[in-house]
Amino acid sequence: MASSIDLKILRKENLGRSICLIVGTRPGIIMFSPLFRACVSKGLDFFTIHTGQHYSYNMDRVIFDTLDLPLPRHHLQGIAEKKYHGAQTAAMLEGVERVLLEERPSLVLVGGDANTNLAGALAARKLHIDVGHIEAGERSYDWRMPEEHNRRMIDHISNLLFATNEKGATRLKEEQVMGKVFVTGNTIVDAAYQNFEIAKRRSKILEVNGLEEKRYCVLTCHREENTDFVENLTGVLEGVGKFALDSGLPVYFAAHPRTMKRMESFGLLEKVKNFQGILLREAPGYTDFLRLLSSAALVFTDSGGVQQEACIFKVPCVTLRENTEWTETLDIGANHLVGTEPRRILAGAAACLEKPGTWDVPFGDGRAAERILDMCQESISG
Ligand code: UD1
Ligand code: UDP
Repeated sequence: MASSIDLKILRKENLGRSICLIVGTRPGIIMFSPLFRACVSKGLDFFTIHTGQHYSYNMDRVIFDTLDLPLPRHHLQGIAEKKYHGAQTAAMLEGVERVLLEERPSLVLVGGDANTNLAGALAARKLHIDVGHIEAGERSYDWRMPEEHNRRMIDHISNLLFATNEKGATRLKEEQVMGKVFVTGNTIVDAAYQNFEIAKRRSKILEVNGLEEKRYCVLTCHREENTDFVENLTGVLEGVGKFALDSGLPVYFAAHPRTMKRMESFGLLEKVKNFQGILLREAPGYTDFLRLLSSAALVFTDSGGVQQEACIFKVPCVTLRENTEWTETLDIGANHLVGTEPRRILAGAAACLEKPGTWDVPFGDGRAAERILDMCQESISG
């Protein structure tokens, strides 16, 4: 055993043949939902570590419950109390390492750009366990974003890099990553296709809120650059508030817990509650959100996942950022980058409402998870 002679790494002969899936945030659990299903249907030896980064019911457990996903074998504790990026990432790194030493999988899979994924990939790398990165090669080139730091670091310590498209794959090769690069499509697309049927069957969110198909809009806003700078958050709220008033279309504000907390500490919460036309609500669970989004006239968002889902459901998207990883949505006119200034938000929304959603969806075919797991199996047995 490696530990008996105090080695800090594991050798190939110390490892089993299982695959470890690492999740911990809302988008991570959602993008892994097709992988869980494919692991089960292929009869693979797999287990899940939940890092505990997200913990509120609607951000986490509701996704497992409504989609009937296998629960994680390991769930790290004490992460929610960690306030700073370093403390949070360090606690998850230590927790994941402890589990990996116990389980000794052959391969660790992480997906996306959250701190959870950096912690998971780094824990595996340090132990000499192979790492696979899903959604590799995406870049915003925005150095303010913690997600951009994470993506770059994960890509450079991964053995298997699953790019969503050729552009990402080319970028990774230009950056001279060490691992093998594959183009697989994106599992968030598989997730949207698979889970929309469940959403249509289960969700009553439109009825409960008195919303009519295509006669309302949706707002999500949770990125650090937007929520933690009062001028940016105020710009978003004023711009979208004015849009609701002028257009007569109510805006369902699906507020992330982070955003609720920031609005409260900046003294904006009461004002937003009283905005005419804004329906301020705690972020709903995933299947409710899919139903809400797919029937909306327009979405305002700074979310990566929501930009892609809007494109899939042919809902015009106004992105509250100056850049995006998902540039293909811009190329086809499905998405408009407007930042956080009210004037630009209003102009972006007007441009979107003029155009019906006629684009062809530029993302994969809904079979990315299958492809990724086939490559993982090949790598394990190779
Ligand atoms: C994280 C990711 C971001 C991703 C987002 C998805 C990083 C650096 N950021 O941001 O890329 O887009 O998840 O939603 O990893 N909170 C709760 N309950 C929860 C989760 C969060 O109350 O279940 C509150 C807490 O006050 C917490 C704050 O939100 O401190 C921020 O949470 P954190 O996980 O640090 O970052 P996110 O903003 O969720
Ligand atoms: N989502 C959700 N409830 C909401 C808003 C979004 O379940 O109120 C889902 C959405 O369908 C998408 C995912 O969360 O699949 C996107 O995650 P998020 O916006 O938290 O993170 P990002 O994609 O920006 O990293």
